[in-house]
Amino acid sequence: MKGIILAGGFGTRLYPTTLVTSKQLLPIYDKPMLYYPLSILMMSDIKDILIISTKDDLIRMENLLGDGKRFGINLQYKIQEYPYGIAQAFLIGEDFLQNDACALILGDNLFHGAGLIKHLKEAVKRCENNQATIFAYYVKDPSRFGVVQFDEKNNVLNIEEKPLEPKSNYCVTGLYFYPKGVIKKAKKLKPSSRGELEITDLNNLYIEEHNLHVVSLSRGYVWMDAGTNESLLEASNYIKSIEEHQGIKVCCPEEIAYKNHWISKEELLKQGKLMQNNDYGKHLLNVAEGKIKY
Ligand code: DAU
Repeated sequence: MKGIILAGGFGTRLYPTTLVTSKQLLPIYDKPMLYYPLSILMMSDIKDILIISTKDDLIRMENLLGDGKRFGINLQYKIQEYPYGIAQAFLIGEDFLQNDACALILGDNLFHGAGLIKHLKEAVKRCENNQATIFAYYVKDPSRFGVVQFDEKNNVLNIEEKPLEPKSNYCVTGLYFYPKGVIKKAKKLKPSSRGELEITDLNNLYIEEHNLHVVSLSRGYVWMDAGTNESLLEASNYIKSIEEHQGIKVCCPEEIAYKNHWISKEELLKQGKLMQNNDYGKHLLNVAEGKIKY
């Protein structure tokens, strides 16, 4: 199983902030936005990860994350010249994927909630049985998203991209698990009216084959995409309040790597000491010293 983080686009909704930097490198409270989707893939036990972004932003992302060794993972990087659609990630990532199953996550998506790791691992398992998984979330304003239509028995009928008259309030979040063969399916897609290879069209191909499992995230979960000034601030406030209330960190890749036995205690202590004058570094030291129970 491999992972892709799609972190391209121009971030125009955040101009002028993103005129000379990448949206996905902006902080959500105390860490770069990219740490959140990276953590989700790591929680899914995925170690081989491709980051896709624009030419300029990719350099900065590589400066931040390097080859991934300090998180016990293998990172590769590939350019998306122009945002031609989320499903293009599979065409750009063809050499990297080599026909493996793949989890794709958007670089501005934040997921949080107890039990999430179980959902992630179940999605990985379903890939082994040739089933794709997506995660749906109840929202007030579904027209902004891909929207799931269910029948009266809660079977998924189809997904519509940004419908004017949404058939439910359940939107499709930016985390997708696909079994082997996803590249072949992505190659069948034609650009939509907005000129993109739509992830919704890909998901509908799996629905036609009865191979798409939709997990509706219940009310204990938080999902946000931090693509606007409002949602970026909301995401930061959310993480700040959870972290300060509990005194722990959310989506801390070094901690996940240590819990997964991908890095040693020495490596974690080294990372913690580098940042020991702030709460992030102190948290890593607390984890290494066994102060946090799992
Ligand atoms: O956020 C979830 C929604 O993401 C889904 O409900 C929709 O079905 C899906 O199409 C997508 O909606 P948007 O069309 O609004 O996504 P947006 O263009 O905002 O792109 C999402 C993120 O992916 C954004 O951070 C930029 C990045 N991206 C997007 C495209 C199209 C790329 O890196 N490359 C791309 O080609």
